[in-house]
Amino acid sequence: MDPNFFTFLFFFFFLFFLLHRPISASNLHKFKQLNSDFLSQSKSSYDSLTPQSPTKYFEVTKPIELPKTKPCSYHVLHHDFGYTYGQPPVFANYTSPPHCSSTKFSKIVLEWKATCEGRQFDRIFGVWLGGVELLRSCTAEPRATGIVWSVEKDITRYHSLLFNHQQQNQTLAVFLGNIVDKTYTGVYHVDITINFYPFHVNTPKTKKFNPLAFTSDSHADLILPISRNLPLNDGLWFNIQNSTDVGLKEFSVPQNAYRAVLEVYVSFHENDEFWYSNPPNEYLSANNITNSPGNGPFREVLVTLDDKVVGSVWPFTVIYTGGVNPLLWRPITGIGSFDLPSYDIEITPFLGEILDGKNHLFGFKVTNALNVWYIDANLHLWLDSNSVRTEGVLVNHIDKPLVESIVSNFSGLNGTFLTSAKKSILSSGWVRSSFGNITTSFVQDFSYCSSMVMRKNGEKQTVNQIISFNDSIRVKLPSSHLDLVDDTNRNFSLYLDSDELDQDNDTYLAVSNVTLGFDVSKSKSEDSEFSKSFLSNVQDSQGKMVVKKNLVISGVGETQQDYRYESNEGCYFRKIGSSNYTILYDKVKNSCNKRSHYPFGLKIFNKFPIIL
Ligand SMILES: *[C@@H]1O[C@H](CO)[C@@H](O)[C@H](O)[C@H]1NC(C)=O
Ligand SMILES: *[C@@H]1O[C@H](CO)[C@@H](O)[C@H](O)[C@H]1NC(C)=O
Ligand SMILES: *[C@@H]1O[C@H](CO)[C@@H](O)[C@H](O)[C@H]1NC(C)=O
Ligand SMILES: *[C@@H]1O[C@H](CO)[C@@H](O)[C@H](O)[C@H]1NC(C)=O
Ligand SMILES: *[C@@H]1O[C@H](CO)[C@@H](O)[C@H](O)[C@H]1NC(C)=O
Ligand SMILES: *[C@@H]1O[C@H](CO)[C@@H](O)[C@H](O)[C@H]1NC(C)=O
Ligand SMILES: *[C@@H]1O[C@H](CO)[C@@H](O)[C@H](O)[C@H]1NC(C)=O
Ligand SMILES: *[C@@H]1O[C@H](CO)[C@@H](O)[C@H](O)[C@H]1NC(C)=O
Ligand SMILES: *[C@@H]1O[C@H](CO)[C@@H](O)[C@H](O)[C@H]1NC(C)=O
Ligand SMILES: *[C@@H]1O[C@H](CO)[C@@H](O)[C@H](O)[C@H]1NC(C)=O
Ligand SMILES: *[C@@H]1O[C@H](CO)[C@@H](O)[C@H](O)[C@H]1NC(C)=O
Ligand SMILES: *[C@@H]1O[C@H](CO)[C@@H](O)[C@H](O)[C@H]1NC(C)=O
Repeated sequence: MDPNFFTFLFFFFFLFFLLHRPISASNLHKFKQLNSDFLSQSKSSYDSLTPQSPTKYFEVTKPIELPKTKPCSYHVLHHDFGYTYGQPPVFANYTSPPHCSSTKFSKIVLEWKATCEGRQFDRIFGVWLGGVELLRSCTAEPRATGIVWSVEKDITRYHSLLFNHQQQNQTLAVFLGNIVDKTYTGVYHVDITINFYPFHVNTPKTKKFNPLAFTSDSHADLILPISRNLPLNDGLWFNIQNSTDVGLKEFSVPQNAYRAVLEVYVSFHENDEFWYSNPPNEYLSANNITNSPGNGPFREVLVTLDDKVVGSVWPFTVIYTGGVNPLLWRPITGIGSFDLPSYDIEITPFLGEILDGKNHLFGFKVTNALNVWYIDANLHLWLDSNSVRTEGVLVNHIDKPLVESIVSNFSGLNGTFLTSAKKSILSSGWVRSSFGNITTSFVQDFSYCSSMVMRKNGEKQTVNQIISFNDSIRVKLPSSHLDLVDDTNRNFSLYLDSDELDQDNDTYLAVSNVTLGFDVSKSKSEDSEFSKSFLSNVQDSQGKMVVKKNLVISGVGETQQDYRYESNEGCYFRKIGSSNYTILYDKVKNSCNKRSHYPFGLKIFNKFPIIL
């Protein structure tokens, strides 16, 4: 048996069931532990609210736009995930092309459907095809009467992988580390289906056909896995344990590549599950606290290529379904928890360095990391079918060092910590292919700002955090074309307030308020077409739990979510609210506001200069 497993159990049972209420930072973990037990036992005042049919959980997001065609469905896997911790992933054979009458598909959707009943924790899982990660997600926590949920993900961008003609049979791998015993009884019953939607005959071609890889509907010709090789008794992700740990993968690219994008998947667990609420080490050591995670509240994922930093990810603070207070995420789950975001890093400027046919190394590390971060990536490559060799040169690369500052002011367990960080990375380079000599530049700009306040001797913690994460791609095409511009501007925000109020008879009330959300604006210009979009997705949640002698005896959770998507191609709005498992209101609107006060003007782009 895996020794880590015992450490894990020992850690939780000792810390959370024997020790009484350490400081707030670890209360977050305690919340989770207490709740999942209580909620699925359903031997409490909560019983009256428990329905007899399974509860359906869901994540609020914009539905995938599907063509009006009948999909060809390929049921890839059914499995009951019982005791799977420390075992190999579950495998299925995937045969391409799938047996569909059509051969051209405009949309491909992966559907994960699962049911569970009993008592179980939130479990992280991943789905890989040929080592390429298709989905990173978290399970919903069951109830005694059962739950059901599904995740639909647009996987059209993995088209070349799904129709891999070199390798007819590929292995689909699913890792979901679950533990089933007398206490934690929930088995996850899972079906994975891939739906292939043929082109609609009358699909109006809105966009001009452009053979270049940089247009939005162009999918890679080849996708290489930057993940761990099988066999493994784990997911294919790298496990990053600390700030010096590096996950490394050797790879080589075909010598006729002319564009490369690295798609990075990230999730954080155990001591870093709530990294944004970890206090600085000096605070912990001054108070002789050794059993609570520290390293401060700032993290960044760095991606290296042969020891050069090629990009970074300052991740969105996904809260898993058991996080803070599980009642907040039922039935509306936390933003990103059922479909964790992946992050794209433009590698094209560096292509000149790796077109030599030799092996190169991608590396992943996490600044200030505590165990454990699960990271891997997919390298999307566009190949020049008209030539066997492309050539390129990295012209400029500036990796501005991280500027991080922490201002601490504390006395005993009370204190205020202000943390800020800034970084930018710039690269540019040219690649010459049969399409001509194309110069690409990629700039990432980050800023981070956090305020953490500890009051009531650490029993009350308030975190306010904003991450601003901007990417900008500029592509200078051969003469006749206009430059391509692709800008993404993201703000991730988090407000977390958790408090414990002592009551009579060894009882305390845990109160937590969470505001979690992001704003993303994208602007793109390609060959005289301009597009802009703005997405704002915010959840406000309030939860209360009464805990008596480490047993939750009652609880309430409420969530309000506001999802707003506006673009020059269409809009989608949804406002929804829930309280104690009941949906209170749910308003959906598919059309744009007539006199929409767009947070952006539909301005025409100028020709942008290339930053060299
Ligand atoms: C995949 O196919 C091979 C050969 O047909 C077979 O031996 C193997 O058992 C199959 N694997 C699974 C997981 O079904
Ligand atoms: C692929 O798998 C199918 C069924 O699992 C099998 O019939 C076929 O022979 C395999 N093809 C190759 C090339 O291995
Ligand atoms: C960091 O983690 C790696 C991998 O687990 C381990 O080998 C190394 O000793 C750790 N370093 C520190 C400073 O703890
Ligand atoms: C921490 O431990 C040291 C040594 O045992 C002791 O002198 C000090 O008073 C302790 N500080 C606190 C805040 O408990
Ligand atoms: C530190 O906190 C104390 C108590 O809140 C306050 O009186 C003091 O001015 C603060 N010091 C600084 C440098 O902010
Ligand atoms: C491609 O364009 C860049 C920038 O204009 C130039 O420096 C480079 O020499 C060109 N490469 C080739 C092979 O023409
Ligand atoms: C990101 O872009 C927005 C809008 O241009 C700007 O206000 C913000 O300061 C930028 N953030 C960073 C870190 O550069
Ligand atoms: C911490 O703050 C609380 C009020 O929030 C106060 O009662 C307590 O005395 C403070 N502790 C210290 C060590 O200053
Ligand atoms: C405290 O617990 C005792 C015994 O369980 C009970 O008789 C008493 O009413 C409780 N007091 C309060 C204030 O809940
Ligand atoms: C938490 O939410 C409740 C209900 O909306 C509100 O009354 C309370 O003031 C909030 N507390 C904090 C600290 O934000
Ligand atoms: C992010 O915040 C910055 C600074 O407040 C603002 O200028 C920018 O417009 C915001 N971006 C989005 C997408 O809301
Ligand atoms: C949820 O429970 C709380 C406390 O019992 C109650 O105030 C609230 O009205 C309940 N909400 C619904 C929708 O039943």
